[in-house]
Amino acid sequence: MSEFLAGIDCQIWPHLQGAATAPPVVRELFERDPERFAHCSAQAAGLLLDFSRQRVDSTLMESFAMLAEQLDLRTRTEAMFSGAPINRTEGRAVLHTALRRPATAGALIVEGSDLQPLILAERSHMLGFADAIRAGTIRSSKDLPFNLVINIGIGGSDLGPAMAVRALRPYTREAPRVEFVSNVDGCELADLLEQADPARTLFIICSKTFTTLETRTNAEAAREWLRSRLGDAAVPGHFAAVSVNAKAMDAFGVHPQYRFNMWDWVGGRYSIWSSIGVALAIAIGSTHFNAFLAGAHELDEHFRSAPWEQNLPALAAFCAVWNIDFLKLPTLAVLPYDSRLARLPAYLQQLEMESNGKSVRLNGEPTAVATCPVIWGEPGDNAQHSFFQLLHQGTERAALDMLVPVRSSGASQAQQDLAIANALAQAEAFAYGYSAEQVAADLKKQGMSAEQITALTPHKVHAGNRPVSMLLFRQLDPRTLGAIIALYEHKVFVQSVIWGNNAFDQWGVELGKKMCEAIIPLVKNPQLAGQSSSSVRGALAFVSRERVG
Ligand code: F6P
Repeated sequence: MSEFLAGIDCQIWPHLQGAATAPPVVRELFERDPERFAHCSAQAAGLLLDFSRQRVDSTLMESFAMLAEQLDLRTRTEAMFSGAPINRTEGRAVLHTALRRPATAGALIVEGSDLQPLILAERSHMLGFADAIRAGTIRSSKDLPFNLVINIGIGGSDLGPAMAVRALRPYTREAPRVEFVSNVDGCELADLLEQADPARTLFIICSKTFTTLETRTNAEAAREWLRSRLGDAAVPGHFAAVSVNAKAMDAFGVHPQYRFNMWDWVGGRYSIWSSIGVALAIAIGSTHFNAFLAGAHELDEHFRSAPWEQNLPALAAFCAVWNIDFLKLPTLAVLPYDSRLARLPAYLQQLEMESNGKSVRLNGEPTAVATCPVIWGEPGDNAQHSFFQLLHQGTERAALDMLVPVRSSGASQAQQDLAIANALAQAEAFAYGYSAEQVAADLKKQGMSAEQITALTPHKVHAGNRPVSMLLFRQLDPRTLGAIIALYEHKVFVQSVIWGNNAFDQWGVELGKKMCEAIIPLVKNPQLAGQSSSSVRGALAFVSRERVG
């Protein structure tokens, strides 16, 4: 089998295209098989994936399973887990899964060396630090326990820990306040520092490369703030860092014992499991952080061994590919029915779109099919009162992922029961819609005249047939959150195998960064902009006029 084979090269692909000329209708699928839920749902690692409201039938899912076989998905998965350099354009292995292996898992030999002791030593260093910060045994330069931890990072060095700290707030009660700063404009940092006590503030600079403009700028501003209040000598006692770039951590003045390591084989958006998760570990403590890793590991083992028809990441990926490539639905709305998951859509934007937002295949040829959809979303309840109108009745359609915990994340079970009711009601409305006959019958019951019914009916019709997946779980706890993230990571991987692209590089983020380097001096001094486009010159002229005073 060629390692460059993609779904479109497989014999089964034209068969899927044929099926897509008359795709199943959700309402009819349920009419044909009222007990559809029983065989359109699967469970693993505490998660129940219900895809009964997707526009797929068993024949289609069998075709996708055959596609997985034709693509040799098992072998490709094992290549990833065993450290083969599957990120070809960067010549790297992809081993975020190694970061959640338990201590009992045994050796992981990659290119002749065992990575397991390295990983365990780093994990123990980072978790020991996190627990000591929580306990107040690691203290500031003024011998005080820290009460504020500010993570400075962006992209994968921010979104995962920030999303997870918010999601797991009930587990953070014993911890100092943990906050996140990412944007280069400096506003987030300025707002936090207004109230911060320098003698009790710890900064963590998270940057795989330690060269990222936003992170370096915010880190330097934070160091300046600290120096101006506590003096130069205080700096190391207030700065921890995580990077592959040890030299840059030294040069910055990070405390020698507060430096944490990561490796080239961990991609930024897959790095929450590494020491990049240190802010999360400080927030929830080592026991809960280990549970977070364990949930992800359980999902990893499930992904490696479960048959396709019960394999959560594979099922999620099959539905996603069907939706974008065959039903031509260009977006996926992520709708958590737990407001603690408010940052999950942003996290998944990077995970899915930075991974699979590609239009070239591993073999360098252009992709002949659509790849990653646009991911967007908002907590489901809020969304119901804003953009659900478009989802129900607009001309643009989307695929939908609803995430629904059974137990309340800490407020009131009675209120969570209402959130569950909302999620189920909306999923049913998206699936079945509200036909003209139903609308007319209801309006008649309300006593409307025939004329009024005719006028109003088209406005009230919901076409339905909007594909929904629902992910149910008992509670948003560390173990479950680990499993949810791992599920999406492997879904991304399966999709990339089907599309034939590299899910682990991100060349598309480089051009803008490079161009910014050339523009930074022009913003400072617009007179230098003579060679720039008229758009840049025009904008800079406005900037220089308005900046004065
Ligand atoms: O610009 C995108 C990106 O390279 C992401 O892939 C990465 O997560 C983020 O920037 C931050 O990079 P670093 O951790 O090296 O600062």
